[in-house]
Amino acid sequence: MADETIPVETLTEEQAKAELQRLASEIAHHDALYHGKDKPEISDADYDALKLRNDAIEAQFPQLVRTDSPSQRVGAAPAGIFAQVVHARPMLSLDNTFSDEDVQDFVSSVYRFLGQLPDNSIAFTAEPKIDGLSMSLRYENRKLVTAATRGDGTTGENVTANILTIKEIPTELPEDAPDIVEVRGEVYMAKSDFLALNAQMEAEGKQTYVNPRNTASGSLRQLDPKVTANRKLRFFAYAWGEMSQMPAETQWEMVQVFGRWGFPINPLTQRLTSISSILDHYREIGLQRPDLDYDIDGVVYKVDRLDLQARLGFRSRSPRWATAHKFPAEQAFTTVEAIDIQVGRTGALTPVARLTPITVGGVVVTNATLHNEDYIKGIGNSGDRIRPDDHDIRIGDTVIVQRAGDVIPQVLDVVLEKRPEDSAPYVFPKTCPVCGSHAVREKNEKTGKLDSVTRCTGGFVCRAQAVEHIKHFVSRNAFDIEGLGTKQVDFFFESDDPALMIRTAPDIFTLKARQDQSLTKLENIEGFGRVSVRKLFEAIDARREIALHRLIFALGIRHVGETTAKLLARSYGSYAAFAEAMQAAGPKFGDTWNELNSIDGIGEVVAASIVEFFKEPRNLEVVQRLLSEVTPVDAEAPITSDSPVAGKTVVFTGSLERFTRDEAKARAEGLGAKVAGSVSKKTDYVVAGPGAGSKLDKARELGVQVMTEDEWLTLIGG
Ligand code: IVH
Repeated sequence: MADETIPVETLTEEQAKAELQRLASEIAHHDALYHGKDKPEISDADYDALKLRNDAIEAQFPQLVRTDSPSQRVGAAPAGIFAQVVHARPMLSLDNTFSDEDVQDFVSSVYRFLGQLPDNSIAFTAEPKIDGLSMSLRYENRKLVTAATRGDGTTGENVTANILTIKEIPTELPEDAPDIVEVRGEVYMAKSDFLALNAQMEAEGKQTYVNPRNTASGSLRQLDPKVTANRKLRFFAYAWGEMSQMPAETQWEMVQVFGRWGFPINPLTQRLTSISSILDHYREIGLQRPDLDYDIDGVVYKVDRLDLQARLGFRSRSPRWATAHKFPAEQAFTTVEAIDIQVGRTGALTPVARLTPITVGGVVVTNATLHNEDYIKGIGNSGDRIRPDDHDIRIGDTVIVQRAGDVIPQVLDVVLEKRPEDSAPYVFPKTCPVCGSHAVREKNEKTGKLDSVTRCTGGFVCRAQAVEHIKHFVSRNAFDIEGLGTKQVDFFFESDDPALMIRTAPDIFTLKARQDQSLTKLENIEGFGRVSVRKLFEAIDARREIALHRLIFALGIRHVGETTAKLLARSYGSYAAFAEAMQAAGPKFGDTWNELNSIDGIGEVVAASIVEFFKEPRNLEVVQRLLSEVTPVDAEAPITSDSPVAGKTVVFTGSLERFTRDEAKARAEGLGAKVAGSVSKKTDYVVAGPGAGSKLDKARELGVQVMTEDEWLTLIGG
């Protein structure tokens, strides 16, 4: 065991690694005792000391942060379905108001109810109405014990394990907090995080999410907290349930106290008295709405004094002391002037409606995505009708535009009464508008249905695909070349000057040499100065060495997003090994093909797409040229500790009872084992839980060693 008394500053990397491993399992052990409500073995102070030391070592050696580190704040997995929680105080909803008059009526009703109070003597808080999910967090003796969704207001779902992954939510309250505290507020996903998640889903060829709210809700209701942990949820505190003691006398003060206890509180909240100042604040927040990094759908007004709130009390389901002043829906009418087709990196033809510019919720909208051919026809992803009366979208139509989740404008519906008489259904192109190649909808082999996406078959011939590919190649998670933005890439791509043009990714790395030999100087071209040219070449040179996973991601293989690229890099280690295996994996169901498919997280579609990429001589030629310019840095070999499973391949199957699958996987990988998704001759161990089926049969058939979870735990040392 590592010596805990060695000061963090003097730890060697090796000692640090060992100690982080020890701390992870020790803290997990105490967490389990604590959350399982068993008797804790150590004092809170000792527990804190362990966590602090873990944090300090991680700060010193960020490269050593383990997936199972306590700093990653992943709680125990829920039992399978969420348990029900009866709220100690019901979680109510709010009445809605829509107009200035409604607000006036609300304020008057408060005065009328309380009677005999002078004008402007009652203060109200005005707080943004966050568009997320309400959550009740219960602390007993200053420790977070339960997090529950609102449910029907009386009974919610216990999502504590998932809430523990939200870093913004304190798990402990300060000493001066009362013994029983229920803090309530909204769990939400930031717009920026939502966009990043969708970009990742898209890059991986997966279905994107509709809006931040639904994504937050879906993320919270995951059975596996690791998934929730990846989704970056956030929280604002604005209300409370049971409190053994009230720390303040007003709504405003209560929220400030929550802030002092470590909860995020909304900075746009104000305490106001006159109707005019309330309405001004509402308009002010409305103006800021498009720029906020979270969705809001109104402003909530609450009587500030808690004694007055108590006197006002409740109607059946909502308090008399509060109301939600909703923003008008962010929709507007405009006309479709044209439908353009954009061609993406993978050849997808995306129709875009060019709209007569219109302001929707404070933002000028000129384009809206029409997604694909079916969407224009009014057919949804699963073949369902998405618009009433089967209407399609046509050029010249008057349409209702909405900014979904405040971000991507969408055409919601068509106003049929305003359709021009001479309008005709939109005919989706059968050829690529950029290169003229055939554009086809592929048939999904499994379902026999047509893919919703129409794709240009031009590949390298298609300029649109080529230029989009370069943009992808230089993007942040790929080569990340500063100074090569969309505009610059377009410029270099369009150029016919041999000293300037960039038609394929390797050309980026020969640009400087070509410049040096030419009289055309980039710095003399408008938009490029001496300094920016020097910086650009520095940025390019800085990427002549590149992490293997970035290189793989940059290749732009369909269905290979960042996560898959990382899996591949880790599994194959070097580019040479990867490329060799992919070329050998051509004949399906051979050993190399099976090996690729056995990587946990890589399915058949992805595997086939990678193999396809390596079959194309043109791809190999481009990669070859690229590799004469850049050197991929091998992926770090798995930590080969002296553990008995280092270098072994293990498959987990059946329902595991001692740990979640992700937990099992992280633990095994931490010990240097490779975790595969299917059983092959190369599998060393199959760990089978109850209900194991075909993988277990396969293991028996191949004579692979099968063990129970307990036997596995004994093997890896508990
Ligand atoms: S107060 C008794 N304040 O709106 C009043 N709710 O329509 C309890 N919400 O379920 C709610 N922001 O999910 C309150 N600043 C805010 C809010 C807020 C969003 C949500 C909450 C609630 C719903 C009521």
